[in-house]
Amino acid sequence: MMPGKKFLVLLSILAVHAPMMDRACAGEASFADMVRHADRSRGHDLADGMCSDCHTFDRGGGAMIGPNLYAVQGRPVASAPDFNFSPALRAHRPQVWTIDTLSTWLKNPAAFAPGTRMAFDGLTNDRDRADIVVYLASLSDGKE
Ligand code: HEC
Repeated sequence: MMPGKKFLVLLSILAVHAPMMDRACAGEASFADMVRHADRSRGHDLADGMCSDCHTFDRGGGAMIGPNLYAVQGRPVASAPDFNFSPALRAHRPQVWTIDTLSTWLKNPAAFAPGTRMAFDGLTNDRDRADIVVYLASLSDGKE
C-alpha cells in the first residue's frame, strides 16, 4: 500500500521543522531554564575558584588584574571606575551587562571582544555559566 499524499506532506513538514524545534528546546530554552533554576551559592564557589585571582566581588572592592564586579549586571560594559579597559571591551560600551551579555562574554571572552585583556579561556559548561551569572546578578544593593 502506498502512503497517502497527506501523510507525505505531513512527513515533509516534520522533516523541515523538527531540527528547528530541537534547537529551540535544546539550545536557548535550556540555558534560560538553567538560569531559572541556577544555584547562586554554587556560582559563588565557582567564581571564587575561577575569577577571584583577578576580580573582587564586594561593594567598594578594588580593581586587581580585572575590575571590581559588584553590581556589574545593569551597568554599561567597560564602565567600572578606576579601571583601564582595553579598546576591545570599550568598543562594546553602548551595551549593558545583562544575564545574556554576561553569558556570551564568559562563554568565550575573545570571541565577544577580540583583543580583550581578560586572559580567560571561557566557560563552555552551560550549568556552571548559569550559576555564575546568577551569582553576579545577585551582587547589588537590596539583593544581598
Ligand atoms: C586572568 C585574570 C582574569 C580572570 C581569571 C577573569 N577575569 Fe574577568 N576580566 C579580567 C580583565 C583584565 C578584564 C578587563 C578586560 C578588558 O579590558 O579587555 C576583565 C573583565 C571582566 C568583566 C567586564 C567588567 C566590566 O565592568 O565591563 C566581567 C563581567 C568579568 N571580567 C567577569 C569575570 C568572571 C565572572 C570570571 C570568572 C569566571 C573572570 N572574569 C575571570 C581579568 C580576568
